[in-house]
Amino acid sequence: MKWTTLSFVLVCLMTMSCTDANKPLEESTISSPGDILHLDFWLTDDGRPAYRLLRGEAVVIDTSLMGFEFREAAALRGGFEIVTIDVSEEDNTWEMLWGEQREVRNHYRQLAVELQESTELARQIGITFRLYDDGLGFRYHFPEQPNMDKLTIMDELTEFSLTGDHTCWWIPGDWDIYEHLVTKTRFGRIDARSKRNHPNLAQTTIPYNAVATPVTLKTDDGLYISFHEANLTDYSGMTLMVDKENTRFVSELVGRADSAKADISLPFSTPWRTVQVTDRAGDLIESNLIVNLNEPSVLEGDLSWIEPMKYAGIWWEMHLTKASWDMASGKHGATTANAKRYIDFCAAYGIRGLLIEGWNTGWERWIGFPDREGVFDFVTPYEDYDMDEVVRYAKENGVDIVMHHETSAAPRTYEEQLEPAYQLMERYGMHAVKTGYVGPIIPEGEYHHGQWMVQHYRKVLETAARYEVMVDAHEPIKDTGLRRTYPNMMTREGLRGQEFNAFSMEGGNPTNHLSEVAFTRMLAGPIDYTPGVIKLDMMPYKPDNNIKHTLAHELALYVVIYSPLQMVADLPENLEGQPGMQWVQDVAVDWEQSIVIDGEPGDFVTIARQERGGDRWFLGTITDKSEREQSIALSFLAEGTNYRVVTYRDAADAHWRENPTAMEIEETTLVSSDTLQLQLVPGGGAAVMFEPIGE
Ligand code: NOJ
Ligand code: CA
Repeated sequence: MKWTTLSFVLVCLMTMSCTDANKPLEESTISSPGDILHLDFWLTDDGRPAYRLLRGEAVVIDTSLMGFEFREAAALRGGFEIVTIDVSEEDNTWEMLWGEQREVRNHYRQLAVELQESTELARQIGITFRLYDDGLGFRYHFPEQPNMDKLTIMDELTEFSLTGDHTCWWIPGDWDIYEHLVTKTRFGRIDARSKRNHPNLAQTTIPYNAVATPVTLKTDDGLYISFHEANLTDYSGMTLMVDKENTRFVSELVGRADSAKADISLPFSTPWRTVQVTDRAGDLIESNLIVNLNEPSVLEGDLSWIEPMKYAGIWWEMHLTKASWDMASGKHGATTANAKRYIDFCAAYGIRGLLIEGWNTGWERWIGFPDREGVFDFVTPYEDYDMDEVVRYAKENGVDIVMHHETSAAPRTYEEQLEPAYQLMERYGMHAVKTGYVGPIIPEGEYHHGQWMVQHYRKVLETAARYEVMVDAHEPIKDTGLRRTYPNMMTREGLRGQEFNAFSMEGGNPTNHLSEVAFTRMLAGPIDYTPGVIKLDMMPYKPDNNIKHTLAHELALYVVIYSPLQMVADLPENLEGQPGMQWVQDVAVDWEQSIVIDGEPGDFVTIARQERGGDRWFLGTITDKSEREQSIALSFLAEGTNYRVVTYRDAADAHWRENPTAMEIEETTLVSSDTLQLQLVPGGGAAVMFEPIGE
């Protein structure tokens, strides 16, 4: 629905007078639907496109310029005239097949400008801005035109000028991996390159002082800002270069061997560059801006094969070194007998999926081998793994096997086998795959986050869709909201997951890790963190390690860290009969609505979610090393209904280091006018189920 359309051709003279004034035209200023954010667009004296973003009176992004540099063509950065300006409004609501909520409102005002060079070449470029109450998205469009056809982009020059030395929660702009700890510093203290060579990162390439997105900031006036991108298609991932002199971020696309950034054929639209701005940290998590900036679903027909679920795995035992992926080790995890043991466990606890890693040949030449092409075989099981029998037994017990494809970052080998690999899954009726890309990309000179790999990840996603397979990607490209277009793109890693706790004590995740992740990485989309390690001391396999939060905190992750495929990660022998298992069985994985009750990046976060298609609510809260008293108003519950409330809370003497497993389970009856009082210990948390029991 168009609200107003001002579409007109401006004569040269008019453009001149506007650029002389070096100020936005009235026609190129828009406000968000609720009049909260304001955007100005204009051309500078030398015809460079510029924009500015305000929240109320406060400037959030100061004058910022835009442009491109190419290999064979002159840069596109100035000497423009405005050809058309088009302002419109859109307000619609769409339904998520699965997600943090069912209904998503997509309400924005749009400003679309078309620019043309005043020189003889007269090259054209368009910029579309969409302004929401909680943020801005904009992207560039290269229309088909006589003097440009194919372009090799050497640099995208999008600026984000900050108005102060804000506090930032960042990870380095690594071209290969996002598995870094979040660092909190002022903008002026960001030093991404100091994070190179971090132990346990299979590959890391950090060529610039740049950060990855999402990166979250807080101004001294209490505004929260997060930069990211939406709909990353056929282009390189964007990192943000830290320009300390001018207190601004500048886009720095992930490169490749020949130092170019992307090849494009016209017409072409770049991904959306996004700036979310809120005055409450929780509103960043509640924002739907990223998914809204993606195209509606292209998957049609019966999509009942796409289903959120919990899954266990022959997985943690490899990370604990109890078992191994490869058969030659003599302690192979993926054997028929072990698979049946896990299937029995899943059946007993109503866990729908079972991931089996190390089922296929190739693991003997995995990490550390320079030539890993042609090694992994995605259709041939090891001799001690009888796939027919495992799948038969799983079906008999109502369990779905989750396929595993570790590519060892040799994507050409994977692509060669895509069809037979997915045909095999089709034959066995498998509808979920976990992919992985450990190691430096082969061929050398390509990186996990560059255009070539963006194309690869998309090809895999599209192939999976054709074969009715849901994808959980590890070592992925970052999430940019594609799950709207491809609802089989369920979840991904792309952060420092649970596995780091098994690597070493120092390398393990710090107590405030997930309170940081909730306000940074989670803004991009679902996370396969792989919660559900209940034996926090990892004995007897890793006697020196310890998960650095309490058991109640670990249980809370099922609500706090959103994923439609949610793991139950620990060994069956550690989980069976444990009191926390009732929660693991009860907690939902798909949601009608989600409310971020409170939180502050790196300190704590409290989220309540209503199960999809049901009346139960689940609440999770986690804290950093500080103890915290929480008074939670239960106004989200339905009025006039009594709820049976089961609380998994830290015992009074619990502590993330001294006594992490001390947990109390309490049952009460509460109503929506009540307040729930929770006392979180250092590194603690709470997991709460609300079940309606009538009036
Ligand atoms: C790294 C993944 O993050 C992990 O989950 C998996 O077990 C290994 N690669 C092997 O594929
Ligand atoms: Ca990983």
